[in-house]
Amino acid sequence: MRIALASDHAAVALRQAIGQHLQKLGHTIEDLGCDADDRVDYPQYAAAVAGAVLHGGCDKGVLLCGTGIGMSIVANKFEGIRAALVHDVTTARLASEHNAANVLCLGARTTGPLVATECVTVWIETPFDARHQVRLDLIAKIEG
Ligand code: RB5
Repeated sequence: MRIALASDHAAVALRQAIGQHLQKLGHTIEDLGCDADDRVDYPQYAAAVAGAVLHGGCDKGVLLCGTGIGMSIVANKFEGIRAALVHDVTTARLASEHNAANVLCLGARTTGPLVATECVTVWIETPFDARHQVRLDLIAKIEG
C-alpha cells in the first residue's frame, strides 16, 4: 500500500518509528512532515494527508499529534475521509472492520510507541466487513 504520513511537532519521533515500521512491512510511505521539532500547526498537515488520500494516489493516511484529536477533527472535514482516532488495538481493528477508516489518528502524548505501532498494523491488516456498507453510504449521503 501507499500510505501518507504526517505529524505535528508533538509526534515527530512516533512518526519516524511508524514510518520505519510500515516500510518494514513492505508499504510505501509518503512522508509529509513536519520537518523538525519546531512548533507547527496541525491543520495544514491533516489537510495534506487528506489530499494525498483523496487525490494523491495514497491508499490510506496516518496522522499523529499530541492527542490525535486535532488531526482527526481536521481530516474529517474532507469529503470522503473517514478518520478514526484510536487508542488501542481493538479500536484500531474496528476502525477498519466497521468504519473503513481511511485515515488513522493517534496521539503521541497519549499512546505509547509500541501500542501505536501495533494499532497501525492491525488497522492496515483488518478488512472491512461489508455488513457495515449501508452506514458508509449514509455518511456519504450526509456529506453530499
Ligand atoms: C500541540 O501542542 C497539540 O495541541 C497538538 O499536538 C494536538 O494534541 C492537538 O490536538
